[in-house]
Amino acid sequence: MRILLTRPLHEFAVREMRKRHLVEVHAGRSPMSKKLLISRIADKEGLLCYPYDRIDKEVIEAGANLKAISTYSVGYDHIDIKAASRRGIVISYTPEVLTDATADHTMALMLDLFRRVSDGDKMIRRGRWTTILGPYDFLGTDLHGKTLGIFGMGRIGMAVAKRARGFEMRIIYHNRKRVPSTLERRLDARYVSLDELFRKSDVVSIHAPHSAGTNDMVGMSLLKKMKKASFLVNTARGRIINENDLASALKSGTIAGAALDVFREEPLSIHSPLIKLENVILTPHIGSATSETRREMAEIAVKNLLLSLSGKKPIYQVRAG
Ligand code: DGY
Repeated sequence: MRILLTRPLHEFAVREMRKRHLVEVHAGRSPMSKKLLISRIADKEGLLCYPYDRIDKEVIEAGANLKAISTYSVGYDHIDIKAASRRGIVISYTPEVLTDATADHTMALMLDLFRRVSDGDKMIRRGRWTTILGPYDFLGTDLHGKTLGIFGMGRIGMAVAKRARGFEMRIIYHNRKRVPSTLERRLDARYVSLDELFRKSDVVSIHAPHSAGTNDMVGMSLLKKMKKASFLVNTARGRIINENDLASALKSGTIAGAALDVFREEPLSIHSPLIKLENVILTPHIGSATSETRREMAEIAVKNLLLSLSGKKPIYQVRAG
């Protein structure tokens, strides 16, 4: 069968696919344009794509022979799942393997916000460390003893909770469904309403999937509920936050700071209002970017695709609805 790979992937993974299939790889470092994607997908049975590829209804319709779509990501909001499922296309993704890497990155961002690691680095590089710091200079905030509000208690939310307990934080969470009480006890996490989550947390960390229901959900009305000294962290999807509202909240001191790994449009434009703000830490969507994790993701994405193309169940299947 014919497979389209929208971006180069680990050599071992491409080799595996080439053992039994014809693989076309879109070379280069920028994502395929929609026009190119539509023209290349027409004769393919399999598609291995990335979160940057918009696999909408039009693309799916253009792939008249498509049997399987495998995304190299845990998120699948870039795929029109309904349109693909109506066509009987099997959709698969790569959860679990990136849970720990993403949770680690979340903690790195949180620690940076509280302890001003990036700030300190910038200060030195800009030549502004000119005197020995006194007892009131360059103060951060204690992380231990603070309340972490987890929005979205799925795999990654739980992995963050586990780590945060090690830092002696208090954990509250909000989720569509409350998690079983045994898990709550194990994580030492208390279920609260969305309103309470934003009011009580010293730092809110977002781990919900992006959907029509969460799109733009974190806007001014939730941000205004937060404490003035609190922080917001997002390693999930940029579209969950209204970025203009967040920029205003950061500028006006409604909240103290934010750390973002994901954005509404990626790469983030240099003209984004977030860029000029000193109280926001920005990383380029690297939550899962460790060599170990990315390799495991490649292995699973390929296994998923090959299983689906041979009529078997992939390891991780996305179901419509
Ligand atoms: C994912 O897998 O969805 C992460 O955001 C990395 O792309």
